[in-house]
Amino acid sequence: FPVENIRNFSIIAHVDHGKSTLADRLLELTGAIDKTKNNKQVLDKLQVERERGITVKAQTASLFYNYEGKQYLLNLIDTPGHVDFSYEVSRSLSACQGVLLVVDANEGIQAQTVANFFLAFEAQLSIIPVINKIDLKNADPERVEKQIEKVFDIPGDECIKISAKLGTNVESVLDAVIKRIPLYAGQVGYLIAGMKDVTEAQIGDTLYLHKQPVEPLPGFKSAKPMVFAGMYPVDQSEYNNLKSAIEKLTLNDSSVVVHRDSSLALGAGWRLGFLGLLHMEVFNQRLEQEYNASVILTTPTVPYKAVLSSAKLMKEYREKEITIINPAQFPDKSKVTEYLEPVVLGTIITPDEYTGKIMMLCQARRAVQKNMMYIDQNRVMLKYLFPLNEIVVDFYDSLKSLSSGYASFDYEDAGYQTAELVKMDILLNGSIVEELVTVVHKDKAYSVGKAICERLKDSLPRQLFEIAIQAALGSKIIARETVKAYRKNVLAKCYGGDITRKMKLLKRQAEGKKKLRKVGNVEVPKDAFIKVLKTQ
Ligand code: GTP
Repeated sequence: FPVENIRNFSIIAHVDHGKSTLADRLLELTGAIDKTKNNKQVLDKLQVERERGITVKAQTASLFYNYEGKQYLLNLIDTPGHVDFSYEVSRSLSACQGVLLVVDANEGIQAQTVANFFLAFEAQLSIIPVINKIDLKNADPERVEKQIEKVFDIPGDECIKISAKLGTNVESVLDAVIKRIPLYAGQVGYLIAGMKDVTEAQIGDTLYLHKQPVEPLPGFKSAKPMVFAGMYPVDQSEYNNLKSAIEKLTLNDSSVVVHRDSSLALGAGWRLGFLGLLHMEVFNQRLEQEYNASVILTTPTVPYKAVLSSAKLMKEYREKEITIINPAQFPDKSKVTEYLEPVVLGTIITPDEYTGKIMMLCQARRAVQKNMMYIDQNRVMLKYLFPLNEIVVDFYDSLKSLSSGYASFDYEDAGYQTAELVKMDILLNGSIVEELVTVVHKDKAYSVGKAICERLKDSLPRQLFEIAIQAALGSKIIARETVKAYRKNVLAKCYGGDITRKMKLLKRQAEGKKKLRKVGNVEVPKDAFIKVLKTQ
């Protein structure tokens, strides 16, 4: 193909604004797939993608299109919309010269529309705004056109209004791809190399002929894990199966960081680093669906840092700053000049009636407001600097529920800030439960400690003596719950004689005990740990 007849482009959008549906129509229109009623998200191949209706891995397709008597080759790269997968978006974009920025005609610009626009803008690509879903009853394409003018400074008359579902005006999109995206060399292809391990080649590497070295392309920053969680097999006999499943899946997704780990209660396992919470859930779901593995995933934590206080310590740790991905390794205050926590710059877009409530939520999460702007008469865009830890678990759900689902949220890495972090121990009758050690911000210690004690109280069975459950900062107790004593007599239900029945019950009780862990004099069933440690 002559260079002037090739276009490399991507489709970017907020989740559910119709990227994959538009890709289906483009594939049909160019004859790459047949027109049938069953073409739904053809490029979303993974089971998890189909079930959740989201795109996780970028996919590519080459299309041939005749325009004004010439044949063109259009290389389309479908990209994921969710923030956790933005590294896939930025890699895809570096292979493109243009993007279709799809915006829902009813919902308008959302947080990920903004994030994805800036990825494309920074990569200096031609941006074609496409307003989709004009068939919807509540569609207001003119309003969305004005938002696009205001927020992105793109003239409204450049917007193409379509319905990807019905196929309305989709040809104009292809025509714009040809007319508005620059004339650029480049082909999608593949290469067979004699490498034994895929990790030998990184995405973004430059290949050249051995005898003709070239200046390498800048490559990509490696994806940085933002969330760490422990992963254990439900049954230790499954350890090896799970190990091989994790190995296979990380070959396919090299952004997951894997360290071996072990817990007294849960046995041998791993500490895994993910790009975000959705990434973690998707990884877990793929393990279960594609590898039939059943796992226990512990509550996620963020990578904190500690700046060491003396040259001796720096020598001992071989670093000035240590990253703490496991609360058990949290260094004592005497060794540290300051602790640091990761922060992110969050974008929230919401109808203005919810602004007050959202500001209160952000404040409660220790966030600092950076900016506020009306994107049209009654929609507001807020920018906040958040400690990552405050949004990792349930921020998104709280935001959605207090805005009746209307607010959208996205965030980008913003480095680290000083934080007053403390290590919190959980005690059972005075003995520390090692697997429940957590690192919390000083201001949150009380509420987090109380919540863990309450959850533990609900999941610990009564024993022959009273159990005190306490949360402590050093020697200071900050929360307490009590489990009352109870005598469980397994033979109580056997009236008199049947000796085989009695033996069976005693045996069952003995088997139950194997799954217990002793903390001091308290027996804790594995289930209780799972209930406290697991993501909600
Ligand atoms: P992610 O891959 O998760 O980022 O989503 P997406 O942007 O690819 O969205 P997708 O194509 O999966 O569409 C989301 C929903 O919107 C689906 O239920 C589509 O049927 C619907 N949809 C897409 N385009 C249109 C349209 O033009 N009109 C209407 N009414 N619905 C549409």
